[in-house]
Amino acid sequence: MKHVQDKNLKEIIPVNKPLKGVIEIPADKSISHRAAIFGALSKNKISITNFSSGADCKSTLNVLMQLGIGIDYISEKNIIISGKEFNEPCNVLDAGNSGTTIRLMTGVLAGSNFYSVLTGDQSLRSRPMARVINPLRTMGANIFARENDTKAPISIIGSKLSGIDFNSTIASAQLKSAILLAGMSADGMTSVTEPFKSRDHTERLLKYLDADISINNNTVSIKKTVLAPKDITIPGDISSAAFFLVAGAIIPDSEITIQNVGLNSTRTGIIDVLKNMGAEITILNERIECGEEVGDIKICYSDLKGIIIDKEIIPRVIDELPIIAVAATQAEGTTIVKGAEDLRHKESDRIKAICTELKKLGADIQETEDGFIIHGKSKLKGNCTLECYHDHRIAMSGYIAGMIADSQIQINEFHWVNISFPEFTSTIENLVESATLQ
Ligand code: S3P
Repeated sequence: MKHVQDKNLKEIIPVNKPLKGVIEIPADKSISHRAAIFGALSKNKISITNFSSGADCKSTLNVLMQLGIGIDYISEKNIIISGKEFNEPCNVLDAGNSGTTIRLMTGVLAGSNFYSVLTGDQSLRSRPMARVINPLRTMGANIFARENDTKAPISIIGSKLSGIDFNSTIASAQLKSAILLAGMSADGMTSVTEPFKSRDHTERLLKYLDADISINNNTVSIKKTVLAPKDITIPGDISSAAFFLVAGAIIPDSEITIQNVGLNSTRTGIIDVLKNMGAEITILNERIECGEEVGDIKICYSDLKGIIIDKEIIPRVIDELPIIAVAATQAEGTTIVKGAEDLRHKESDRIKAICTELKKLGADIQETEDGFIIHGKSKLKGNCTLECYHDHRIAMSGYIAGMIADSQIQINEFHWVNISFPEFTSTIENLVESATLQ
């Protein structure tokens, strides 16, 4: 392959040695968003240790700053939030690429006493917003949006809200959190019931901050509440760890330990899936920090086998499905993912994206309406250019697939990795280097 000259193309050279070492990954993105928003809502000064370095969480900080909140960086990953009553923003609030920022802040701003507009980049402006707007309207919110109130920009005329009992047809933590955040300023009780439990960082952090919140199976209820100003420490993001878990499992003789990873059971589906596929995984140093389980994960290269991944587990692995597809190409037999239609509404249509890109590498993968079917094990071939569709998780999945291809590949616009994991390439390079030294 000729030398890469286009600065948008990242060249991935296959590794022909095991990955061995101990790494850390960036802070959990979901918890970082919530820590910043809840810190601001506490109307006090709080410190956040190990805040995410990704662009998505910076979008949340920028939106909060536009609302008058003070944000000070003590060091690269440690920040102080000076919360206070929000001011009416004098410009449109830009959530960038971040679904969590726009949906959670829509919930917060619905009960404000001012006018605000939330928007985002091209990808975010094409994602479904009616799921949040409709229940908030039932609470009395005055919200309008493009394309019949379904797409951002979202205009909000802050108003007095009343609690609702909302039965959601989808398991979405962004939706649940938007309603609960609106419930924090609404009269009466607000309850959200989900078909399956989605990630529960909102509930755990609100409990840690002494909010008036109760949980009964898949129903969460909240009343008007004042948050305690407590400092927050954030664990590493298991969704970022997932790329290294799969790399460790599929690159022969690898042995990787990932330290300080969030192990909240609503997020550990990737561990269950890889274990079911036959991966050797050990959890070490388990502890609890700010209401979240944390520990180290050790993974060793393993012979993988295909499995069925069904709708019950989907909310616990939703962000990991693209990299699970890469693992499945290296598993003996058939892997079937079903009940994952919401994957089409992420930063990209991830079902289409991962199927198209893995096919370029010669994988036997078939797109279905609500998932995909992969027959393994395939030797992936290189000598092609992958696209990442402005989607950080498709970019990183392509990179790991490229590491086991039989010749080098290129990835177009790999910089999208910065949305969640700016240190991704250097973390891989350090592992490859330490393998070379052994
Ligand atoms: C998130 C919830 C999930 C997930 C997203 C982050 C969150 O989205 O895919 O990356 O922080 O609440 P949905 O709530 O849309 O399923």
